[in-house]
Amino acid sequence: MRNDKNRTQTALVVFFSRTGKVRRVAEAIAAELGADVEEVVDTRNRRGLFGLLNAAWDAILRRAARIEEPAHEPADYDLVVIGTPVWAWSVSAPVRGYLAHERGRLPEVAFFAVARGQGAARAVRVMAHLAGKEPRATLPLVRLYGVRHSSLERARRFARGLIPAW
Ligand SMILES: Cc1cc2nc3c(=O)[nH]c(=O)nc-3n(C[C@H](O)[C@H](O)[C@H](O)COP(=O)(O)O)c2cc1C
Repeated sequence: MRNDKNRTQTALVVFFSRTGKVRRVAEAIAAELGADVEEVVDTRNRRGLFGLLNAAWDAILRRAARIEEPAHEPADYDLVVIGTPVWAWSVSAPVRGYLAHERGRLPEVAFFAVARGQGAARAVRVMAHLAGKEPRATLPLVRLYGVRHSSLERARRFARGLIPAW
């Protein structure tokens, strides 16, 4: 457990990342919160051209990916922050899979989504719908080129904004 022992409340940051952008944001948020981290593991390989094509296909069909059993129990935490890359203006298939798997066991939630250009605001709305929960806060991020320092700073502010409610 990496949770800060001085805090009475605990947080888990859950993310999927195909090419590392969401991972960077998730790690910045987790560091700020002193949270445990859960990486969603897709049972399909999303690397290379075929990986990209089947990711696109799942995204267009709004299919939930089959994921490996998560290592952390979300109900053990006070807050779960979930992050996804934007796929076809919506949630990525692996995070869709996670939400389907854990819906009903989620405590308070917050969501973030990282887009190359468009769809992040829509993706966080879809996450709320799939989780069946109103999030404490959401962070739609557009990265354009790489994950810039300003995006990581916004992510840290987002995380700090979650703490006063603890
Ligand atoms: C199948 C697929 C669909 C995507 N659809 C969108 C989209 O609708 N809008 C967008 O801005 N970026 C889209 N992207 C780009 C990713 O959202 C963006 O590169 C994100 O930062 C990737 O995060 P990651 O490196 O953590 O996987 C898509 C990427 C993939 C693989």
